[in-house]
Amino acid sequence: MNEQIILLDFGSQYTQVIARRIRECSVYSTILPYNTPAAEIARLKPRGIILSGGPSSVYAPNAPLPDKTIFQLGVPVLGICFGVQLLAHFLGGKVEKGLKREYGKGTLTVNDAKCALFAKLPKKLQVWNSHGDKLTKLPNGFKPVASTENSEYAAIENREKKFFGLQFHPEVAHSPRGKEIIANFVHGVCGCGKTWTMRNYLEQAVEEIRAQVGKEKVILGLSGGVDSSVAAALLHRAIGDQLTCIFVNNGLLRAKEAEVVQEVFGRNFKLKLQYENSAALFLKQLKGVTDPEKKRKIIGKAFVDVFQAATKRAGAAKFLAQGTLYPDVIESVPIAGNPAAMIKSHHNVGGLPKNMKFQLVEPLKCLFKDEVRLLGLELGLPKEIVYRQPFPGPGLAVRVLGEVTPARCEILRNADSIVVEEMKACGLYYKTWQTFAVLLPVRSVGVMGDERTYDYTIAIRAVESQDGMTADWVKLPYDLLEKLASRIINEVKGVNRCVFDITSKPPGTIEWE
Ligand code: XMP
Repeated sequence: MNEQIILLDFGSQYTQVIARRIRECSVYSTILPYNTPAAEIARLKPRGIILSGGPSSVYAPNAPLPDKTIFQLGVPVLGICFGVQLLAHFLGGKVEKGLKREYGKGTLTVNDAKCALFAKLPKKLQVWNSHGDKLTKLPNGFKPVASTENSEYAAIENREKKFFGLQFHPEVAHSPRGKEIIANFVHGVCGCGKTWTMRNYLEQAVEEIRAQVGKEKVILGLSGGVDSSVAAALLHRAIGDQLTCIFVNNGLLRAKEAEVVQEVFGRNFKLKLQYENSAALFLKQLKGVTDPEKKRKIIGKAFVDVFQAATKRAGAAKFLAQGTLYPDVIESVPIAGNPAAMIKSHHNVGGLPKNMKFQLVEPLKCLFKDEVRLLGLELGLPKEIVYRQPFPGPGLAVRVLGEVTPARCEILRNADSIVVEEMKACGLYYKTWQTFAVLLPVRSVGVMGDERTYDYTIAIRAVESQDGMTADWVKLPYDLLEKLASRIINEVKGVNRCVFDITSKPPGTIEWE
């Protein structure tokens, strides 16, 4: 079992960021609901506990409060923002409404250089604040170690007990040296070594998969996306031919996608790949359909039918593997006023019916996306797959506006591969969240040579995003746009006009449908 830091979640939008920062220090972190009983936490033998920020005030009637005996477990505690208020609340300090809400960049002055959190850091640090309430009396046994313009207690410490409080947010990018503060806590204060690496995880995961699966067979729906690809490579490493991967070609894939999956997994990894070419079936069911939601429903249902039939052909399997990630399984407790709780994923990717009687194997369920990519590289997957951009489950159907016909899919595929090729050529592809072409249902007039044309329009979409929830359009260089338009109009039959989408999300969405 890895050494770990427990992070109690009081509803901060940054809780997962703190967890990732800890893992970037090669230390395992687990997010638990704020009210997890101290006995349960003790069973996990954490090296330290971090209390996250949160939107509440400790004096609010429904304030989320932890089990107060966590302070008696004898492990170091770091309270961040709302976490400081909790230290005050439970350990004899006082919090009051600040006269001025402290929000944004501030300068921290470290007054006690002996505090382990600030080891090897300069006396002045830029930090990011976001709090209204303010500590006005120190909890018992605490001393101030750093201050900001607005707060003499910006960082406090009980050196004997190894309890710390930070009023600012060390985890966000606007606190540029905050990572080092977190590293000082996990290594310097809690004494954690660098035990969490993808190489270690790989060995451990292989053992766990073998222990769970025994000699049974496992089925995995391989989409070619990052998560299912890494899950496939990991399972294959653990159980070899006991794994069958089912890859469904729904006729809505990008150019060469089916070939790449067959090449990488079938020929290179030599894993059992069951290729289901169901393009005709999907396209037949989509004939004449133009409504985006109807398209999604048809595709979702057809996928389930095809997958179910394919699993039967694959032979009796006891397990179904899924590439579920940590952010999907973190148990979130509703906290009043918590904006993080309002944001929910609105796409149920690859949902399978409940009546499929498999036990689940989810070997990525304690990993963040960036860790999954590192694991993929460790397993020898090519960069092309590991750093692949997100691609919607319903595929090109949400990018072919209007009726999805084989001919219109082909137009889009040809235009899209030019976009991807040129983005890769100028080094921008792996730097953007998504870049793709959309086929619009409008036709317009043009001239080519001496001929009048009346053809379709392609929209180019390039967006920057952290998680797909919000997005900004990318200011692609003019000469790249010019090249894209010129190549698409010259090379893709059926297209005579190109436009560039400059809509951000919100108010737009990333996909056009
Ligand atoms: P939107 O278009 O809602 O997309 O801004 C946000 C992110 O989700 C992807 N997306 C989907 N993924 N099934 C999926 O699996 C879908 O129906 C779907 N629609 C959008 C989109 O590519 C973007 O990354």
